[in-house]
Amino acid sequence: MPSTSSWILVCAFLCLSLLARAQTANKAIDAEGNQWWQHAVFYEIYPRSFADSDNDGIGDLKGIASKLDYLKDLGVDAIWISPCFPSPQVDFGYDVSDYENIDPMYGTLADFDNLASAAKKRGIHILLDFVVNHTSDQHKWFLDSKSSRTSEHRDWYIWRDGKGPGQPPNNWTSTFGGSAWKLDPTTNQYYYHYFYAQQPDLNWRNPAVKDAMFDVTRWWYKRGVSGFRLDAVDTLFEDPDLTDNPVKPGTNAYGDPIEEDKYNKKLPEVHEALRGLRKVADEYNAVLIGETWTANIAELNLYYGHGNNELQLPMDFLFTTVNKLSAGDFRKQIAAVDSASGWPTFVISNHDIVRSYDRYGDGQHNDQIAKLMAGLYLTLRGTPIMYYGEEIGMKTTPPTRKEDVKDPIGRTGWPKEKGRDGQRTPMQWDASENAGFSKATPWLPVPETAKTHNVADESKDSESVLAFYKRVLKLRHTSKALLDGTYAPLNENDQNVLSYLRVYKDQAVLVALNMSGTEQKVSFDWSKNGFASVKSLLATGKSSASGSVATLEPYGVFIGQLSK
Ligand code: NOJ
Repeated sequence: MPSTSSWILVCAFLCLSLLARAQTANKAIDAEGNQWWQHAVFYEIYPRSFADSDNDGIGDLKGIASKLDYLKDLGVDAIWISPCFPSPQVDFGYDVSDYENIDPMYGTLADFDNLASAAKKRGIHILLDFVVNHTSDQHKWFLDSKSSRTSEHRDWYIWRDGKGPGQPPNNWTSTFGGSAWKLDPTTNQYYYHYFYAQQPDLNWRNPAVKDAMFDVTRWWYKRGVSGFRLDAVDTLFEDPDLTDNPVKPGTNAYGDPIEEDKYNKKLPEVHEALRGLRKVADEYNAVLIGETWTANIAELNLYYGHGNNELQLPMDFLFTTVNKLSAGDFRKQIAAVDSASGWPTFVISNHDIVRSYDRYGDGQHNDQIAKLMAGLYLTLRGTPIMYYGEEIGMKTTPPTRKEDVKDPIGRTGWPKEKGRDGQRTPMQWDASENAGFSKATPWLPVPETAKTHNVADESKDSESVLAFYKRVLKLRHTSKALLDGTYAPLNENDQNVLSYLRVYKDQAVLVALNMSGTEQKVSFDWSKNGFASVKSLLATGKSSASGSVATLEPYGVFIGQLSK
């Protein structure tokens, strides 16, 4: 039985450590209760394609470290690095064979530590990409799992008998084509894979899986990461009865029947797993971004969780579903996201989606439209997540021949589905042969546009897309209204110009974005908000405002400070 004095010592120790933890957690919250990630601009790096320090044609961690000053100067506060863990690279890193190491093609753990400390020195947070739904089929857990029906890790994955000879357990199809079940001859059972067959789904119903995955996050938090982007969280759980999915008419790019993923996607149990991951994240004051393909705001709200106890930043892909420049559609979407129960997150491109440059570009005014999009998603209330190259106007450059395709879905689905190579081409640093990305032939070809759209040349041009991004980001970081102000839409029936105020106490910033190809004159009535006139903070070309009227050139941007 411990003595009273040892109990006092134990209690004092516990109190002190709780106090220390509370102080660390509080450090990141400002006087108004904002968390660091609410004021941060995030930037996604696809490591294969960012910067190649050892000239093997594939980007690496030392390459990223060499570009931190560029990122700082651009106005980036946090980087999310797509998977850089050991992997057979079937899905270019989204098939992880060891969660607690770095793939030699990207460097070593020591390189990661150096990157982390160099980033910290510059005030840049690092987030990693946590592939939670599945591992590689080469992960030691799966190798053990498939070795026998009684192996220690058997129940870490989803194994079932077929319905009959040569028949998978049910009709579920993989989102990457074909049945979602693969027969493994060693034990004569099928395993489930929502993505490629080399990406077996983990069995999140098994508490040992949960614990192991929570521990992975702890391991990286202790190494200095500030959070994770959680991959494919929609698909963490499946119906244990394996009910067949409803089938719709027609076939997809892979020739499979079109299914509604009713029994293998967005099951309520997902939220329990996310609450668990969040609990661990909270111990380290970390932030969780989610790859959440929500169909509406009700679904988005579920991902924030009751009392915001799940993801702080579920990515709002709803925004990326507005595929044309439409003031009305964006207005509707922004209002919806603004009404959600958590802090908004805005994304316009990533490594899976066609780049915004050509999604919105009309082929003639693409640079102007790229600035317009920057003027939009970098001035909204919420956290923006940029995608590398967006700031220089990189365009999607898909392969033109099937034999050049690297992304496996592009080969299975050709020509309807060309894969995602087009949005993953090397970062364009300068106009030299490999765009300054590498001295060797890059793993994906450098687009022709590297000659006109690259960091070196755009840094010298005050009218470039890059120069505009830098200006907006600077404004965003220094304007209280843009950081913390409420979102107040203006002229809600205007189909050409999207305008809004960001209001913080007695300050307000006007953002007016001409989404049409003709000049627009717009009058504002902000007398109800108590303002009388506006002064320009940032505008493109001839766009200007005087009194309460703005004149916007085609695709023009005007951002101004209101005064009483
Ligand atoms: C989503 C990732 O963004 C994508 O690139 C990947 O192929 C799948 N999840 C599977 O991990």
